Amino acid sequence: MDAIYLDHAATTPVHPAVIEAMTNALQTSFGNPSSIHSFGRESRAILDRCRRYVADKIGASEKEIYFTSGGTEADNLAIIGVALANKAKGKHIITTQIEHHAVLHAAEHLETLGFEVTYLPVNQYGQVEMRTLQESLRDDTILVSIMMVNNEVGTLQAIAELAAIIKDHQAYFHTDAVQAFGLEQINVAKLGLDLLSVSGHKINGPKGTGFLYAGKGVKFHALQHGGAQERLKRPGTESLPAIVGLTKAIELIVEDNYPHKASYENYRTVFLQVLAQEGITFQVNGAPNAYAPSILNISFPGTSVESLLMNLDLDGIAASSGSACTAGSLELSHVLIAMYGEQDPRTENAIRFSFGLANDAAQIKKAATKVSQIIKRLTKQSTIIEEVK
Ligand SMILES: Cc1ncc(COP(=O)(O)O)c(C=O)c1O
Repeated sequence: MDAIYLDHAATTPVHPAVIEAMTNALQTSFGNPSSIHSFGRESRAILDRCRRYVADKIGASEKEIYFTSGGTEADNLAIIGVALANKAKGKHIITTQIEHHAVLHAAEHLETLGFEVTYLPVNQYGQVEMRTLQESLRDDTILVSIMMVNNEVGTLQAIAELAAIIKDHQAYFHTDAVQAFGLEQINVAKLGLDLLSVSGHKINGPKGTGFLYAGKGVKFHALQHGGAQERLKRPGTESLPAIVGLTKAIELIVEDNYPHKASYENYRTVFLQVLAQEGITFQVNGAPNAYAPSILNISFPGTSVESLLMNLDLDGIAASSGSACTAGSLELSHVLIAMYGEQDPRTENAIRFSFGLANDAAQIKKAATKVSQIIKRLTKQSTIIEEVK
């Protein structure tokens, strides 16, 4: 049985061209970019090229790109780094209840250091309303961090409008764009961003790489100490092959003019059509008009996440419940709780299917048919159990 991978929001397969570029870098450019001899200079030239390329594609300058070990580190550097460097201006930070734990736990850490954090609520679609940001803004707010695309339900925030609210305020605006990057072009100036986090392994690049964009005037502290790499903000010998891989992954998307959105939209439509044709009762969690088509979160009434995941896996479908970064634990999703409240059954029977390069339309049809069969089996079972009770 060929398994069907529908968990691209957790991670993606590495693109063959990325593997080739990385292999080449591993074999031919082992010099330390900080060394002054020719081996080092060659690596430095490659690193500089990668930085320039990445910067150019988001409308930034190369001095504004800091390569990191991924999205988590970029988020931590943005949130804790900004807080520590700007505490003389205020100790208030605003984020949302639906952020990835890389942001939430960084914010919670700041609370232990004496910072005050406001966690903005969201509406039933997972959207932050403008009014809630306006109302929570204080004179001593130093940072607002709102994710671009939610990793569990795919809701897309109105980032440009939200950032515009604090345009004339001292606070910096950070967005976690880990799940958004690569779907369409991101221009930091047009969006009004001060800081932006990106991860390599969500866009068919390698794991353990990503970057933080921090605009020229943004003050933030390094979180680790050592060498002078990344302009002292992220010391440690650069992982050149990983950075080459990340850059190649971005290049593949950009040079092809962001090709994936339309096919994911099609997969989403096909998936939902099959469920409807099969007569399945389901509910899509997320915003009907503002979503990333790569992430489809569906609740199946009368089922439970545990049995759904187990049955999906047995039938060769790899999906997940909410955030895979807390995989292993089947805690209720903080995102669905923020959207619906703790008592809502949708928090207990939601599955995230996420599309990517490992898929084609035929697979999606097959997967949706299998999902329908599983739901029919499980809901029949639960009806029988109810009747026996
Ligand atoms: C929205 C979001 N932010 C941050 C991260 C963390 O990125 P990384 O796995 O590169 O540390 C993830 C990973 O799932 C994510 O989905």
